[in-house]
Amino acid sequence: MTLGIGRQDFPDGFLFGAATSAYQIEGSSFGGAGPCHWDSFAATPGNVLGAEDGGRACDHFHRWEEDLDLVAGAWLDAYRFSVNWARVLPEGTGPANPEGLDFYDRLVDGMLARGLRPFLTLYHWDMPSALAMRGGWTNRDVAGWFADYARLVHARLGDRVETTATINEPWCVAWLSHFLGAHAPGLRDIRAAAHAMHHVLLAHAAGIEALRAEGDATLGIVLNFEHAAPASDTPADNAAAARADAIYNRWFIEALTRGTYPEEALSGLLPHMPQGWEADMDRIRAPLDWLGVNYYTRHIYRDDPGAPWPGLADVEGPLPKTSMGWEIYPEGLTGFLTRLARDHVGSLPIYVTENGASFDDRLEGGAVDDPGRIAFLAAHLAATRDAVAAGVNLRGFFYWSLLDNYEWAFGYARRFGLVHVDRRTLNRVPKASYHALTAALAKA
Ligand code: FCB
Repeated sequence: MTLGIGRQDFPDGFLFGAATSAYQIEGSSFGGAGPCHWDSFAATPGNVLGAEDGGRACDHFHRWEEDLDLVAGAWLDAYRFSVNWARVLPEGTGPANPEGLDFYDRLVDGMLARGLRPFLTLYHWDMPSALAMRGGWTNRDVAGWFADYARLVHARLGDRVETTATINEPWCVAWLSHFLGAHAPGLRDIRAAAHAMHHVLLAHAAGIEALRAEGDATLGIVLNFEHAAPASDTPADNAAAARADAIYNRWFIEALTRGTYPEEALSGLLPHMPQGWEADMDRIRAPLDWLGVNYYTRHIYRDDPGAPWPGLADVEGPLPKTSMGWEIYPEGLTGFLTRLARDHVGSLPIYVTENGASFDDRLEGGAVDDPGRIAFLAAHLAATRDAVAAGVNLRGFFYWSLLDNYEWAFGYARRFGLVHVDRRTLNRVPKASYHALTAALAKA
């Protein structure tokens, strides 16, 4: 099975890559890393399927050379990775762990040696436990902690990375983790959520300021977007979808580009916001060099008048789904890319920094046949190409993920990889999708 779309369908210089994150693949029990809030979240009953954590993960800490060979072997141009904050600063602040910094130093050199462009993310959810115990994202001091951490990583890697993103998916960091309680630290508290919704942007701003002062001109942020559809045409359901859209898809980008929060979201969060938040908005609006867009699915909302604000109820959608239960809706990707360019960032370079799918892949006779993933990838590459054709300044596309890995609250029970990872032996076997992508990207 082929993809039916490939490098030749995109502009010259368009980058194809694969994405991973530190906690999901490295194995945080190796190399002197400190604990992070995912370790304690996973150790608390009911939070993570099988109570699994990232202690061993894919053992990428020891197998990184094989993994980078896999990235380069697929003719990918770029590799998006993250640094585990607690690996380089076991206490979150204070003395660095030299072994941790050395690891990332070798990793970046390994990318360059293979002709891969390093796309660094500073924060992909591994809040050091020491800082989580001081309130983590609910504490305004997180901005200073993050800026110091950003400076440390930049001093070691900044001369060789292609781009640096401050934070991965602020919506997940703040809303999913402090209001919905589905991710660490697992809070379900609107006040904590409102504080995190603001502080995650303040930390981003402090990180940008710190690295700008070092002369870095490759700075961005990675936001996630999910198409919010109303369950019916009633005004109440339309308003519900608009509230969801404001919280999920508008809060962060409007703060970053306009210095404001959308009224539909602020109306509910205002009483719970940190004091003096308005004075931070000018800092938050600081210019970016690029924007990262993560996109997976759409969500259908209905008004739930009996529930407290935001009064949303989920409705199951009719479209085919991945094994996450996420509807497959490639039109949403074109929709967001064109909407972001039109309404928010103009001609600022945009990368699709994550897009991918989990399926119940099986290793049989030494191979993994994953036609669902090939079809998913083909459809979303076509959706990306449509956005390019519509004039969006799109510079690249990263598949999530290189490897089957630790899928957060789902433990190791969801497989997003182009490469199958055996949970017992940790052997890597490229899936049919990996081979299809390789053929689609090969250069003469
Ligand atoms: C995104 C995360 C990534 C992975 C994918 C499936 O929200 O950034 O770590 O879990 O979803």
